[in-house]
Amino acid sequence: MLEPGPTYQLLRNLTSPVVAITSQRSGKENGMISDAAVRASIVPSIPRLSVYIHKFNYSHDMIFETGRFGLHLLHTTQLDVVRRLGFVSGRDRNKLEGLPHHPGLLGVPVLDECFAHFECSVANVMDTGSSTLFLGDVIAVGRGSATGLEPRGELLTATYFRANMPADWRHEYEAKLKEAQQVAAEMSRKIKPVVWKATP
Ligand SMILES: Cc1cc2nc3c(=O)[nH]c(=O)nc-3n(C[C@H](O)[C@H](O)[C@H](O)COP(=O)(O)O)c2cc1C
Repeated sequence: MLEPGPTYQLLRNLTSPVVAITSQRSGKENGMISDAAVRASIVPSIPRLSVYIHKFNYSHDMIFETGRFGLHLLHTTQLDVVRRLGFVSGRDRNKLEGLPHHPGLLGVPVLDECFAHFECSVANVMDTGSSTLFLGDVIAVGRGSATGLEPRGELLTATYFRANMPADWRHEYEAKLKEAQQVAAEMSRKIKPVVWKATP
């Protein structure tokens, strides 16, 4: 029998590390958080990754329209970055202000501090109704800091984040997740085929 609650909890085993996704469109920069990113190629000479981004997030249209994004693995010491980018929308404020970053090769913002980052050009997309799965060709990588040294510290996983976020964040996190789940539920069954255009 398919019980929604326990099934959802089991599916949490398939969440990815917590990643910060950045985008840039017409001079405006943004960042958000996802735990739905995965390696999408086994071919070393064709590095690819994929990530699901909900259509109601501001980042979605920025990435869809520009065909590029940055994806950052984070350290366990960067819970504050998760709150900054993942709890409010860039429609309401410039979330990258005060978070040290620089333009990457593709023009997307690259966070100075992270475990590692990948700059991606969108190679294809899939519509899920409520979100888009972006398949990205990895165009550039960096190992965690502006100096390009090996990643330091520990990778921030979704399990670590849920277990270690400060207690006074939890209510806000759960409320935002519930709201997103309700909106996604209304959109999820209307899947449209999308033909991806070549990135400009
Ligand atoms: C731990 C965590 C995981 C998240 N995972 C996703 C995800 O996989 N896809 C997504 O679209 N949003 C995800 N979010 C929510 C977005 O990061 C959040 O809605 C953000 O405010 C969107 O910002 P934007 O409107 O500026 O794009 C996650 C948030 C957190 C805190």
